[in-house]
Amino acid sequence: MFRTIEWQENNTVKLVDQTKLPLAVEFIETSSHKRIAQAIKVMEIRGAPAIGAAAAMGMALAAIESEASTKERLLADLETAARTLNTRPTAVNLTWATSRMLRVARNTEGSVQSIVQRLIEEAKEIAEEDVRMCRQIGENALQFIRPGFTIQTICNAGSLATVHLGTVGAVVRVAQERYGDIKVYAAETRPRQQGARLTVFEFMEDGIDTTLITDGMIGTVFHQGRIDCCVVGADRILRTGHVINKIGTYTMAITAHHHNIPFYVAAPTSTIDMVTDVEDVVIEERSPDEVRIINNQYITVPTAKVYNPAFDITPPELVTAIITDRGVIEAPNEDKMRSMFEG
Ligand code: MRU
Repeated sequence: MFRTIEWQENNTVKLVDQTKLPLAVEFIETSSHKRIAQAIKVMEIRGAPAIGAAAAMGMALAAIESEASTKERLLADLETAARTLNTRPTAVNLTWATSRMLRVARNTEGSVQSIVQRLIEEAKEIAEEDVRMCRQIGENALQFIRPGFTIQTICNAGSLATVHLGTVGAVVRVAQERYGDIKVYAAETRPRQQGARLTVFEFMEDGIDTTLITDGMIGTVFHQGRIDCCVVGADRILRTGHVINKIGTYTMAITAHHHNIPFYVAAPTSTIDMVTDVEDVVIEERSPDEVRIINNQYITVPTAKVYNPAFDITPPELVTAIITDRGVIEAPNEDKMRSMFEG
């Protein structure tokens, strides 16, 4: 798989337009942080770690675009840029990335030009870190994945949801590298169909045996014994072990629990949120038309009332283990989360 997003030598950002996949592989190239914000908002780039990397690069572009001649003015421009880039509320990686870039800008001494240069380096480093973290997640998951396993996924937590490799993507790819016979069942993931459009595309590109099912088939394939474990990504994991991920994850976790199927969550440390309480998590609600329309055609009464939350919350008691780059937490709870992630 190609990289989802890249900083280029000429100080532009290149990202694959995920709204066009899998029918066309088209790239967006920009030197504007507002264009990056737009790409995040309309989901040309999506997936928690990928939008974190995009936001970091957006901050570096904003620094280049700024006409500030003092550090104070540059910081003010960067704070405005951070607000512009934080266009989606649920994935913590977005604010994690913009806050990290702001902190670097504040802590860098020297000329405006040297701060801008430092921010470019930091954005590139965030992207490289993401690639390293994903590989480590894949390595850490090997203790749970056996030869011949069939893995159930939801949404896209593959290469396209990160800079490269993926979180769930790394679990699958590293196990496939090791054993050569890993299979995937990908849930379609209504309403945006990231499972059908993106997960199936990228695993098939890499020659991984992948079967597409609709979301309503999950209970049946679990009951039929087709699945050895579920591995899902996360947009935010709380200190209590609650996992916020794509809508349908909670239903999958309950169904896995009923069938005694292990339910793993794969995510980098940039997705861990040790601060927010579960009742304060903002679940993004998206346009009703995402549910009413498929391929530019209404599939229901155009005025039908719709509820369209993009994410749900899975409680820790349904999670077999959280697999991160830092290590693995089995049967997660607040004590275990604190001892791995605090400080
Ligand atoms: O709305 P999206 O497509 O950005 O949602 C993405 C997901 O829910 C992914 O499964 C999650 O971000 C994990 S990405 C490694």
